[in-house]
Amino acid sequence: MAKITIDPSAAFLYPMPMVLVGAVVDGKANFMAAGWVSRVNFKPPLFAIALGPHHTGKGIDANREFSINVPDVSLLAQTDYCGMVSGGKTDKSELFEVFYGALEKAPLIQECPVCMSFSLFEAVKLPFNTLYIGELKEVFTEEKYLTDNVVDIKKVNPFTLSMPDNTYWSVGEKLGKGWDIGKRLKK
Ligand SMILES: Cc1cc2nc3c(=O)[nH]c(=O)nc-3n(C[C@H](O)[C@H](O)[C@H](O)COP(=O)(O)O)c2cc1C
Repeated sequence: MAKITIDPSAAFLYPMPMVLVGAVVDGKANFMAAGWVSRVNFKPPLFAIALGPHHTGKGIDANREFSINVPDVSLLAQTDYCGMVSGGKTDKSELFEVFYGALEKAPLIQECPVCMSFSLFEAVKLPFNTLYIGELKEVFTEEKYLTDNVVDIKKVNPFTLSMPDNTYWSVGEKLGKGWDIGKRLKK
């Protein structure tokens, strides 16, 4: 089958994990939706979020702390809402039950199955976005999300995003084990 080319501005990797990025801005907890997020380093555990010029970024710049909260499918509408309204105009601090770990400026969301707090490792200015790289300091979950002491994606029930059609997807079925299923091709 012949390959065709598409507009690079419409190219994304998918699915993207949907998360809620938290920061304290002007003394208030604020949360924004983000799909451009990934773990980017093994040791220490570093995670990166690519943010445009948003209200949340002001808090990260000021405090050098932020959070990444993984919502489950029951929080789809709340997450989408956090991606449509700005904390600069609308107070989002009451949307969730907020708690804090050791980092006082990394607000965490009680309703989210997995909540992580970060200290800012580096902020890389890109032509439009800022790539905030955070060093993971604490991870909070609940016993009910674990299987054999490990966070279980099925129990967390997160959702993902495809772009540019801007559509949310639930996680599908388990296909096989990584670092294992490819063994059959080894000679
Ligand atoms: C599904 C979805 C994904 C988003 N992903 C990102 C993202 O990865 N980076 C970003 O800068 N903005 C992203 N946004 C936009 C921000 O969440 C949005 O502009 C938000 O209102 C910013 O909030 P704030 O002004 O309170 O910080 C996304 C929005 C939605 C709905």
